[in-house]
Amino acid sequence: SLALNNVRRNASSVTPPYEKLIRNLDLIKNITSKEPLTLSEKILYSHLHNVEETLGSSTSLKNFRGEKYLKLSPDRVAMQDASAQMAMLQFITTKLKSTEVPASIHCDHLIVGKDGEDLDLKSSISTNKEVFNFLKDCSDKYGIQFWGPGSGIIHQIVLENFSAPGLMMLGTDSHTPNAGGLGAIAIGVGGADAVDALTGTPWELKAPKILGVKLTGQLKGWSSPKDVITHLAGILTVRGGTGYIVEYFGEGVESLSCTGMATICNMGAEIGATTSLFPYQPAHKKYLIATERSEVAQAADLALKRGFLRADDDCHYDKVIEINLSELEPSVNGPFTPDLSTPISKYSQTVKENNWPEKISAGLIGSCTNSSYQDMTRAAELVSQATAKGLKPKIPFFVTPGSEQIRATLERDGIVDIFEKAGATVLSNACGPCIGQWDRQDINKKSQETNSIFTSFNRNFRARNDGNRNTMNFLTSPELVTAMVYSGDASYNPLTDSLKTENGETFKFNPPTGEDLPSRGFLKGRNEFYPVKDPQPNEAVSINVSADSDRLQLLEPFDRWDGNELKTNVILKVEGKCTTDHISAAGAWLKYKGHLENIAYNTLIGAMNKETGEVNTVYDFDGSKHSIPDLMFKWKNEKIPWTVVAEHNYGEGSAREHAALQPRFLGGKIILVKSFARIHETNLKKQGMLPLTFADEADYDKISSKDVLETVGLPELVEKNGDNGGFLDIKVIKPSGESFVIKAKHTMSADQVNFFKYGSALNYIGELKRS
Ligand code: F3S
Repeated sequence: SLALNNVRRNASSVTPPYEKLIRNLDLIKNITSKEPLTLSEKILYSHLHNVEETLGSSTSLKNFRGEKYLKLSPDRVAMQDASAQMAMLQFITTKLKSTEVPASIHCDHLIVGKDGEDLDLKSSISTNKEVFNFLKDCSDKYGIQFWGPGSGIIHQIVLENFSAPGLMMLGTDSHTPNAGGLGAIAIGVGGADAVDALTGTPWELKAPKILGVKLTGQLKGWSSPKDVITHLAGILTVRGGTGYIVEYFGEGVESLSCTGMATICNMGAEIGATTSLFPYQPAHKKYLIATERSEVAQAADLALKRGFLRADDDCHYDKVIEINLSELEPSVNGPFTPDLSTPISKYSQTVKENNWPEKISAGLIGSCTNSSYQDMTRAAELVSQATAKGLKPKIPFFVTPGSEQIRATLERDGIVDIFEKAGATVLSNACGPCIGQWDRQDINKKSQETNSIFTSFNRNFRARNDGNRNTMNFLTSPELVTAMVYSGDASYNPLTDSLKTENGETFKFNPPTGEDLPSRGFLKGRNEFYPVKDPQPNEAVSINVSADSDRLQLLEPFDRWDGNELKTNVILKVEGKCTTDHISAAGAWLKYKGHLENIAYNTLIGAMNKETGEVNTVYDFDGSKHSIPDLMFKWKNEKIPWTVVAEHNYGEGSAREHAALQPRFLGGKIILVKSFARIHETNLKKQGMLPLTFADEADYDKISSKDVLETVGLPELVEKNGDNGGFLDIKVIKPSGESFVIKAKHTMSADQVNFFKYGSALNYIGELKRS
């Protein structure tokens, strides 16, 4: 069973516990007779809760990959405001007095982007007051560092303050791997996983395989770190990284800045990777010193000398992909999926072939992916080139700084001025348009007409940015977005084409130049955006959630399993892509993140019904037509348990645990699919659902809505408490009475079987704490 951890919290320390980690690593080296290890393995295994227990009688780690569950003790947890609500609501139910590892909360997702920083921040604070107060109270009570609205985007703040080579952290956001740019193993999880770490319960992860990406050559001209990952996404697709940690190596790494490496790791989420990371580099040291953490750099130097923070020679990668940076061409990825990668030289032709809009309607740069000093100075340099020739952006141009520190530094160095004088809108230091918080005025959201936008963000699912399903978001580097706003024309290639100036001259951009780090150092900016350095728990703080609130609702524990086979009806058979945005939409729904019942009204509203081709439409037993959540609420009230059947990579896209909580709350029992996205599958297990995959994919075609699915042998499976998954038979009973049995697979570890048995991971952890 899950033994509880005894991590002593030390909220102010940002140096990873290298002594302890190297001791663990030495132990592993002894047991495995110095087997060569990748960097990922070194960091991961040195964070094992109990090395000897995990290794057992094994004298090699080779067979662990993709097979064995690891119980890990992360060093730190970071949470953003949208997901922190549910993490905190769950933490409250544990009745603990403080978190056991240092943690931080960041208010970034709930800030709308519209009129620029001042106005947007004021109005967002007033709309979300109740939530921000709740998060602040939780932080004060449990000793969590609270970064308020306007302080910046979680991943940028983590990079500037907490990430460090060899650190292991969890974040309640899928782009948490951004911290891998500074050599950390940083994994995106749901709130329930974060609660594991916060309570000092070992956090479980199936040992990932390791994908090596060898970088050779050197970036030059227009090519940027963003192009490394958009190109890789094109090779690997949105599923190619599933089950892997992506570990970069090779001499090409040396030409990258620390923030550039963070951009690459950030978008590892788009290929489904568990996380991505870079080995400790001189660029890391420079960045640590620039962000006032020379003590971390010194400790890391020593750790490197002792064999930590780098891969061993002859280590084994499960797969290797090589990218020559010198030959890399900027690419444009999209629409609607981040892996549809088109080199800029082919973009114009591809637009024509696909009938995509010839006009670009807006350009947006910044976000957690691309708002570094390097990105912004390179973009601003392009703006300066155009301004010098009297050119102005032809379409709306938005700039989102990632943190107060970046914004203040850019302001001091005249970069903000360059953007604003050119007519760009500088938004608050928050997620804004990246997460549907873009109150867009220039396009009618209801119109069926498609429009294209260029962004330097990381996600481009439908309706992600402006809530409009017909907005095509093309992901690219900040440099290309910036050049593109001066044309607004999809056929323009800034690398080769010229623009006309007002006096009829031709103007061609020179390749952008910029600086990795500010030569005058970073400026902290406004004091009010900075939290207490070493927050202490304070039991006297009370947390009030009003029963009438429509934003927050205290949680009731889910029911335990009754010990019998599950007998469910198929409520919906989903066709094609079903991301967490389809299962629990963002945008306007973000405001209900802390209110499970209210947000449940968005459950699967983006899903396509395989049998009718309709979106958000299902039919009851009597043939009556319903929206998906309506029928789920109805069946919940009628006590009819249900199953959703779907295709590949179900739940891809984000760590959004609401996508698991909502179906569970609405009476769902089984999600049966061709394959799962890793985080979502774990989230389902944590909430006591039964996530299953078809042993034979062809069985998907044999199942229809209203079929009864009945497990065969579930009590035995739970009794056996089988480790690392296995098979479960499912009896399919058609409305005609005809029946047959299919085989399904589960990947539950022994602990996860207990999550199912007790009704949820939290119920189980609570049980352990009480016993
Ligand atoms: Fe925020 Fe978008 Fe990043 S939502 S955390 S800026 S992916």
